[in-house]
Amino acid sequence: MFRPMQVAIRGESRRAAPAAVAGFVSHYGYYSTASNSQRLAGKVAVITGAASGIGKATAAEFVRNGAKVILTDIQDDLGHAVAAELGPDAAYARCDVTDEAQIAAAVDLAVARHGRLDIMHNHAGVTGRMAMHSVGSLDLADFDRTMATNARSAVAGIKHAARVMVPRRSGCIICTASTAGVLGGIVAPTYGISKAAVIGAVRAFAGELGRHGVRVNAISPHGIATRFGLRGLAELFPEASEGELKRMVETGMNEMGGGTVLEVEDIARAAVYLASDEAKYVNGHNLVVDGGYTVGKAANKPAPAG
Ligand SMILES: NC(=O)c1ccc[n+]([C@@H]2O[C@H](COP(=O)([O-])OP(=O)(O)OC[C@H]3O[C@@H](n4cnc5c(N)ncnc54)[C@H](O)[C@@H]3O)[C@@H](O)[C@H]2O)c1
Repeated sequence: MFRPMQVAIRGESRRAAPAAVAGFVSHYGYYSTASNSQRLAGKVAVITGAASGIGKATAAEFVRNGAKVILTDIQDDLGHAVAAELGPDAAYARCDVTDEAQIAAAVDLAVARHGRLDIMHNHAGVTGRMAMHSVGSLDLADFDRTMATNARSAVAGIKHAARVMVPRRSGCIICTASTAGVLGGIVAPTYGISKAAVIGAVRAFAGELGRHGVRVNAISPHGIATRFGLRGLAELFPEASEGELKRMVETGMNEMGGGTVLEVEDIARAAVYLASDEAKYVNGHNLVVDGGYTVGKAANKPAPAG
């Protein structure tokens, strides 16, 4: 039954080739990430930790795709400069994510300025102390600080975004986690625990929010040589130059061959996908962008006898 149908389809497609190609091109063009695509047209977004690195790249990609973006951070001068660079669809406001009231205010600012909030991107984060400790020497003051900036902030961001999204029965919340939250032992335990908690928060709230038309997802990047990534490594390798640290991330930690290196724009485009209507049924997901790093571990194979 299938074979004749396939032959018929193949014959038909051969005759209609030019139109089909044109259709494919325009379809492909629609989903492309070219600078003129408008996958977030008319949407209003708040991004925390947007003055640099992945957050800055995400703000740029959101604006390029037609969103109005409120960038927030604690680096005010840098944040204002980045927003100015991005043009009239971007604005900057201070928001220290360790303070729930400031997260609430950032959400309220989006609603006051644009009438609604469509995308809340809980992105800001810190490494915490990176030097490896045995469990007995774990610094719990550092643990509390890191959990407040990375995990508690994501929960507060979900809470306040939901406050304005649920009544409209629409919205998308994205939380930045990490491969360090997927696998144990990649970096210092405190950071890994904080990012595992982010993934846990996404899973804990996805069911409730999904029933109100609001999606909540995580993105877990692997190592990228941003200031964040390099600062963490610098603590572990204080003698290494910046160039050496960058090579450690882009070569030593790289999973992909063929000269492919993970860049901030790759994470920004993952965020555009999750924020867009193309992901309308994607909820409670952790979108891992790691070149396959977390899918397996090489078995310790015994050396062949003799
Ligand atoms: N770069 C990587 O290798 C990597 C990998 C996985 C996950 N991540 C995650 O990506 C996020 C940011 O990383 P990045 O690489 O863009 O680093 P980055 O240092 O360039 O950006 C982090 C931003 O967060 C801001 N920030 C720090 N504390 C804040 C606070 N209390 N309130 C508001 N803003 C604050 C900083 O000022 C900075 O602009 C973090 O959540 C991090 O855990 C990074």
